[in-house]
Amino acid sequence: MLAELALQALTPATSLARRFGLLREGVALWSRGLRQRKAWEPHHARCRAIIAEVAVTLSQRRKVVVLGSGPARDIPLDMLCASFDEVVLADIVHLPLLRLKLWRQAKVELISRDLTGTMAWLAGEAKERQDPLADLVADAKVDLVISANLLSQLAWPVADWLEDNPTRAAALPGNLPARCIAWHLDDLARFKGHVCLISDVEMVERDRSGAIHDRLDLMYGVELPKEDESWLWPVAPFGEAERDREYVHKVCVWRRYAGSSSAF
Ligand SMILES: C[S@@+](CC[C@H](N)C(=O)[O-])C[C@H]1O[C@@H](n2cnc3c(N)ncnc32)[C@H](O)[C@@H]1O
Repeated sequence: MLAELALQALTPATSLARRFGLLREGVALWSRGLRQRKAWEPHHARCRAIIAEVAVTLSQRRKVVVLGSGPARDIPLDMLCASFDEVVLADIVHLPLLRLKLWRQAKVELISRDLTGTMAWLAGEAKERQDPLADLVADAKVDLVISANLLSQLAWPVADWLEDNPTRAAALPGNLPARCIAWHLDDLARFKGHVCLISDVEMVERDRSGAIHDRLDLMYGVELPKEDESWLWPVAPFGEAERDREYVHKVCVWRRYAGSSSAF
């Protein structure tokens, strides 16, 4: 708890990242990942292996962009640094621990950005959604884009914020959490380089007998094409969130994501 508070105090973050709870969540993710290192490692290892496999199939490896890089536990950073001329890590928050790990890695650029493009708009600081990826989409050197366990995380902070700000919410279009997911899919489809999408799409709550008590669509109804592969990620094993409940996410991978039919 103290370590989490210290890390929050030491992490540079915009006021929007703080107001939408993403600094707190970034630190919480880091400490949950430490506690659940063993339970999460198969998921992380599989993500790293898939990204490395996709990277070696490319004929050119100039710039790779990782969206939702966070603590980068699911990213084969050494392999990407060895194979690409430039590595861009984009997230709303970069923890000092990652900065420390990368300080001698001249190839890596950290970009701090709201990848929904909506937070300034929601907070009344912009008239409309801002394109969060315009510069990177226009960059012809981007040969690989990885959306790394980000997609499911784009909707809930917006949903929570709308719930806490009902007057502002009434003045905004409906379905914004689902739109954030659809917009990210549209953003990915705009890249000319290869796009690999990895995301959890569903959460299941189970008791110790295996009985399912709840099932949550993390995609808010947004449809995706058939995935190439999937597995289960025990995000909160028994004892993490509740003693007799576990929360398991279904993770899907699209090794070459080319677009979705369900944009708003
Ligand atoms: C489940 S974590 C995955 C992190 C990383 N790929 C890993 O597994 O180590 C989701 C990441 O998405 C980031 N994120 C959530 N909402 C975001 C937003 N609106 N803009 C940019 N990043 C966001 C979080 O800060 C977090 O690092």
